[in-house]
Amino acid sequence: MTDAQQVQQQAALSLERLWPRLEITFRDEADVAPADWRALEMRLRHEWERLFGLLLGLYGGHYDFFYHLEELLRAAARSWFARPTWLKQLDARREAAPAWFQSQQMVGGMCYVDLFAGTLQGLRDRLPSFKKLGLTYLHLMPLFESPEGKSDGGYAVSSYRRLNPKLGTIEELAELACEFQEQGISLVLDFVFNHTSDEHEWARRAQAGDHEYERFYFLFPDRRIPDTYERTLREIFPTVRRGSFSWREDIHRWVWTTFNSFQWDLNYANPAVFRAMAQEMLFIANIGVEVLRLDAVAFIWKRMGTSCENQPEAHQIIQAFHCLARIAAPALLFKSEAIVHPDDVVSYISPRECQISYNPLLMALLWESLATGEVKLLAHSMRRRFRLPQGTAWVNYLRSHDDIGWTFDDNDARWKWIDPSGHRTFLNQFYMGRFPGSFARGVPFQENPDTGDARISGTLASLAGLELAIQSGDEQQMELAMRRIQMLYSIILSIGGIPLIYLGDEVGTLNDYAFASDPDKADDSRWVHRPQADWAWRGKVEHDLNSPHGQVFAQLVRLIALRKQQPAISDSDTAFVETGNGHLFGYVRHSAGQRLFVVASFSPHLQEMDANLLRVYGVGYRFTDLITGQTHTAEQPLRLEPYQCVWLEPSSLPKVTGEPSEWGTSYPSEMLTEEQDRKIPRFPSV
Ligand code: GLC
Ligand code: GLC
Repeated sequence: MTDAQQVQQQAALSLERLWPRLEITFRDEADVAPADWRALEMRLRHEWERLFGLLLGLYGGHYDFFYHLEELLRAAARSWFARPTWLKQLDARREAAPAWFQSQQMVGGMCYVDLFAGTLQGLRDRLPSFKKLGLTYLHLMPLFESPEGKSDGGYAVSSYRRLNPKLGTIEELAELACEFQEQGISLVLDFVFNHTSDEHEWARRAQAGDHEYERFYFLFPDRRIPDTYERTLREIFPTVRRGSFSWREDIHRWVWTTFNSFQWDLNYANPAVFRAMAQEMLFIANIGVEVLRLDAVAFIWKRMGTSCENQPEAHQIIQAFHCLARIAAPALLFKSEAIVHPDDVVSYISPRECQISYNPLLMALLWESLATGEVKLLAHSMRRRFRLPQGTAWVNYLRSHDDIGWTFDDNDARWKWIDPSGHRTFLNQFYMGRFPGSFARGVPFQENPDTGDARISGTLASLAGLELAIQSGDEQQMELAMRRIQMLYSIILSIGGIPLIYLGDEVGTLNDYAFASDPDKADDSRWVHRPQADWAWRGKVEHDLNSPHGQVFAQLVRLIALRKQQPAISDSDTAFVETGNGHLFGYVRHSAGQRLFVVASFSPHLQEMDANLLRVYGVGYRFTDLITGQTHTAEQPLRLEPYQCVWLEPSSLPKVTGEPSEWGTSYPSEMLTEEQDRKIPRFPSV
């Protein structure tokens, strides 16, 4: 018998034993409807073998494996039975249309509740502005109970069942989720499962010497084991403390703390940790969350002698959580937050693991191209790395609440004759405004004194040059900064996937340096791009087209509305094209009978592209730029103004069908004379 057959047999046997016991557990619960039982049984039978196999692989060696298995099953059943009716209805809708998140209607926003709106009630009052912008996805940054003072913006969670009382209650959050869903906005929350705060009940019990909970974390009496691990670990927050372990004087232990010293890493080698966190996950799902942002996925499994990042078990754990979600909260999607090497980023993305993922590579390379004015690394990397498995999507963003790290692949860079390490130094210098001619006003984050590594903080507008332009009063710089912002937005809105806006950036908010005088924030420069929203100011500028902020806003609102009208932007592949000009980034989108050719210029000067090249990619002979409404023909070079982005649609062409490989031959040839046709260079498809 093969291993797989053995697992299959054991899975079937376990379910046979567990199912009757489950029936006994819930037999007397009058409110469990027969339809809910049937749904549970159906989903369970569908997921069981996989879930069992994953858990057996992770925890089969523990003598109490079967106990944990049964407890998990009970927790999943209990959670499903307790799931509110509106969510069960949503489950059915999402199961019937699983590609819902790949629609061009999707537009995401993210914010801290306190900084953006004060409280949950305040956030509810902002619903009209979310609608105006066209948001369909709203990520609320961690709002659970966390330590007073320093809490890494809530990423140190002290309870997954209670909210930070300053923001509101779980009940209010659940009501808000339901109301927003009725308005077409899906709620996105974090699942901070790599670590808890040192004030979480589990950590407190560990501090009190409870062995059961000591095993939830990594505690060491001396440096022997930490030193061995540290030989191969990367330092994530080197300015907080050197290394990945923190000394706790009160318990005389070294604690594994990948991030801040008050964020204690959980030990997933312990099945009790998996089970405890699974229960917290199901609880969060039932609040009404549609997308769970899996925080810091790369770090959840430790193996001595490795970087302890992206270990195979990390995937197995997420996949096991995924199975549980399919059983007990089927509408739930997982979003991966892996800000690591591009090969590792994609390893988390699959219909059976995380259906969506941040796209840190596109983010970093858009900034890279803006600094260099050239698109060679961007185009090369996207050609190799943008494509995802069916049933999954990128979340494309320009800025988030975090820093920018230069996570491109070194060999991709070398392929384009770029020295990766020198280039990263240049990019850091450029975005810190230390490079001659730089327009950016960024701030270093976590500069490592040993390696010289650093990452960059700063808002979209400050990094794109608006801060400098406003300070210097230079009209031309102002114009260029505005164009950079619009061009970057035009790309994330059209490239395929879910665009995500860090709220505040829609009005071009500048860096706020006040964080430096707050002792709880001063040592973390990411606060420079997390300012408190100033609604009085916004009220003045938002609709003022003489203000650069009003212009950014108006342009973005318009672009979002335009995006939503283009079926070509929905699900399907993006074909990256050779534009023949090193400053121009181009791609073709083709879906639902519509074809769009997007060309973006990263140059502050006028650029041209041989318009005939468009034909090669099947766009046609005559086309209209949807953004300006201007028409172009293949007889004249396509001219792009500084930092212009065009969304070209073929005009008066019959609707095109067929696969990308057939493009270039499927338009009517009578539109060109033979003479014209011969002049067109043919490129291999990319
Ligand atoms: C994620 C968050 C970041 C936080 C870290 C630790 O990377 O995005 O803000 O510092 O996890 O939770
Ligand atoms: C590192 C981590 C990433 C986290 C970030 C926070 O880059 O890889 O997960 O978001 O630090 O700054």
